[in-house]
Amino acid sequence: MQFYERIRQELDELKSLDRYRVLPDITARNEKDIEVNGQLLLNLSSNDYLGLGDDNAMREGYWNQFRKTSHAMTSSSSRLLTGNHPLYDQLEKTLATIYGRQSAMVFNSGYHANIGILPALCTRHDLVLSDRLNHASIIDGMKIAEAPYQRYRHRDYDHLEELLAGACDRYRQIFIVTESVFSMDGDLADLSQLVALKEKYGAFLIVDEAHGVGVFGERGLGLCEATRMVQHIDIITGTFGKALASTGAYAVMSSLVREYLLNTMRPFIFTTALPPVILGWSLLTLERQTSMTHQRAALLQLASRLASASTYGS
Ligand SMILES: Cc1ncc(COP(=O)(O)O)c(C=O)c1O
Repeated sequence: MQFYERIRQELDELKSLDRYRVLPDITARNEKDIEVNGQLLLNLSSNDYLGLGDDNAMREGYWNQFRKTSHAMTSSSSRLLTGNHPLYDQLEKTLATIYGRQSAMVFNSGYHANIGILPALCTRHDLVLSDRLNHASIIDGMKIAEAPYQRYRHRDYDHLEELLAGACDRYRQIFIVTESVFSMDGDLADLSQLVALKEKYGAFLIVDEAHGVGVFGERGLGLCEATRMVQHIDIITGTFGKALASTGAYAVMSSLVREYLLNTMRPFIFTTALPPVILGWSLLTLERQTSMTHQRAALLQLASRLASASTYGS
């Protein structure tokens, strides 16, 4: 079968299965409202959980301040060449300080982080154990990595322990990877159980806080902060594109792991650095959200109201 004919058929099949994707026609977006395909709707699909992206005063202030700088609109190069703007250093130092960890690293997106970290750290002598409902970017990272992987049943830590016990003598290093707040259903990983298992079996634990940052913890550092596990997790990743109302992602870790990733992580090495305008904005939203305790409480209240309303409806 010709290539074009084959992909036409595949697309038709997706349509018949009701799995065909199209880009929505979004004509207006303002705080909680969104106009999609000509219809005005309440936007419950935004990840701007704290409303930072719609804070006009903050945005104006940032533009005014940015205008006074001589920052270019592009980084024009990878970080390892000439794209390593001083704002990167400021952002990474701030992240490391607020998490109280040795170091931090900023990436172009959460997707870049997840397809880069595991492939950089794991060899074919290692094993990755992943929650079955982890995000597609984590799955893609596991597919790229040389290490074999197994998926434990969603939040089933007895199953995870079974896999750990059966594998710990056969692999050089076991990596456990989980989301903290699961992106599909908003349910939570039990981080203290995961840390206990990591310690018992000498595993390396990676926690993706994409949906936890800004939402949980006294300073919005995520479920790791809320459960006092920040110091016990090897790598914590977070995204700037959700509650932090910017774009990009980060991870906090030991200085040794950072040094290793900087030398080996392909989606970090072979890509153009983020532009200064984004780095400066990320720094501002990151710092601003640490004191948004009331907004966080209101968000959690709204989430629980919505969850109970949808339970009634079902
Ligand atoms: C758990 C999780 N990790 C990673 C990502 C990817 O982050 P980004 O949008 O910054 O690429 C997402 C969603 O986008 C996510 O839900």
